[in-house]
Amino acid sequence: MLQIGLIGTGYWGPNLAKSFELTGKAEVRWLCDLDSRRLEQLSQKYPHAHATSELSKLLGAKDLDAVAISTPAGTHYEIARQALEANKHLLVEKPITLNSKEALQLIRVAEKRELILMVGHVFEYNFTIRALKKLMDSGELGEIHYLNFERTNLGPVRTDVNALWDLASHDISIMCYLLDGAPKDVTARGQAFLNADVEDTVFATFTFLKDIIAQVSASWLNPRKVRQITAVGSKKMAIWNDLDLQRPIQIYDKRVEEPAEIPDTFDGYKTAVVDGGVYIPHIDQNQPLLAECEHFIECVARGERPQSDGYSGLRVVQALEAATASMKNQSKITLIKAEPGDDHKPRVSMKDKQRLDHFVDVVHANLSAEHTRWRDSGSKTAGARAK
Ligand SMILES: NC(=O)c1ccc[n+]([C@@H]2O[C@H](COP(=O)([O-])OP(=O)(O)OC[C@H]3O[C@@H](n4cnc5c(N)ncnc54)[C@H](O)[C@@H]3O)[C@@H](O)[C@H]2O)c1
Repeated sequence: MLQIGLIGTGYWGPNLAKSFELTGKAEVRWLCDLDSRRLEQLSQKYPHAHATSELSKLLGAKDLDAVAISTPAGTHYEIARQALEANKHLLVEKPITLNSKEALQLIRVAEKRELILMVGHVFEYNFTIRALKKLMDSGELGEIHYLNFERTNLGPVRTDVNALWDLASHDISIMCYLLDGAPKDVTARGQAFLNADVEDTVFATFTFLKDIIAQVSASWLNPRKVRQITAVGSKKMAIWNDLDLQRPIQIYDKRVEEPAEIPDTFDGYKTAVVDGGVYIPHIDQNQPLLAECEHFIECVARGERPQSDGYSGLRVVQALEAATASMKNQSKITLIKAEPGDDHKPRVSMKDKQRLDHFVDVVHANLSAEHTRWRDSGSKTAGARAK
C-alpha cells in the first residue's frame, strides 16, 4: 500500500485524494494546506491522515512514500523541489512549473535520486483520447492534415495564470500525445477582457512534423462549455467530444477526392466530395483521474517511467513559453526548442493495448462493411447511426 501525502486541498486536491484511495492500493496519510478551513474540511473525510499547514512536517514523515501537489501553478516548482529532495516520489499537477528551466531542474533531481516524477496530464489517461490516438495511428483517417481543439466555458476565472497556461496546457499535452512529438513552432494571440494582464481568451496555432497544424481556442469567457477535438485526415475525419458520454467519438467518412480534371462549376466540385455518412463506435469509458493515479502507483512499484513524465511536462511548458512569447510579440511565429533525452514514446499499459486494438478492429470492420453497402446501393449518404 503506497503511503501518500497531498499538498493543496482546494478544488482539485480532494479529487486526487479520493482517486488514490479508490485504487485500493494507496492510503492518504498526510494532508497539507495553508488554508486551515479547507484543510479541516478534507481532514474530516480522511480521519486516518495527519493534517498540517507546515510542508516540512509532511516531508519529514518517514512513513511517506510519495507526494501529490495540487497547489496553484506558481508554487509547484518550490514545493516539488523540496519533495524530491526529501526523497518522495512525486505527482505534480499541470503545468509542472511556470518555466522550462525549473521543469528541467526537477527532472534532473528526480533522475539523480531515481524517483518517479509524473505530471497530472489527466487527458492522457482518458480512454476516449487513447481510442482517438489508436484510430489516428491505425491509418483509418488517412494522413492527418490538422487538429482543431476547443476548450471553452464561462469561468472558472483564474487570476494566477492565463487561459493559455490553465486551459490550453491540457490541449498541448493531448496534441503531443496524439502526434507522438513536440510542436516545432507556434503563433498565438490572446486578450485580457476580465482582468488586466491575465488573458482569458487565447488562440494558438502549433505546427508539428509533416506540417500538421494543431489549433487551440481556449477561453473562460464563452457562453458554452466545449471540450472538443476535430481531427481531419485525407481519408476520414473524427470528432472527439468529451461532454457527449454516449458518442465521445464520431467518425465522418468524408473527404474531397481529387477529380479527374479540375472542376470549373459548383456541380463539378460536388462530385469530388465524398460524403459516406457518420459512424459512431461504441467505446468503453474510464475514470481518467483514477487511471492516472493507478498509473502513478504502478510506476512507483515497478520503477518505470510514467506516460506523462517530467519530459512530458517540460514539453508542454516549452510550448507554453513559446506561445507566450508569440502573444507578446504581435503573434510572431516562434520556434519551440526540443529537449534532448525526450523520446516522445507513448506508454500504454498492456491491458489498454488489447482493448484499443480490439476497438480499432471493430471500427475498421464496421466502416468497411458500410462502405461496401453504400457503393452497392449507389448512395453516398448513409446517415448517422449509433452503435
Ligand atoms: N487536471 C485537471 O483537470 C485540473 C483541474 C483543476 C485544477 N488542476 C490543477 O490543480 C492545481 C490546483 O488547482 P485548484 O483549482 O485546486 O486551485 P485552488 O486554488 O482551488 O486550490 C489550491 C490550494 O492550494 C493551497 N496552497 C497554496 N499554496 C500552498 C502552499 N505553499 N502549501 C500548501 N498549500 C498551498 C491553497 O490554500 C488552496 O487550498 C493547479 O495546478 C491546477 O492547474 C488540474
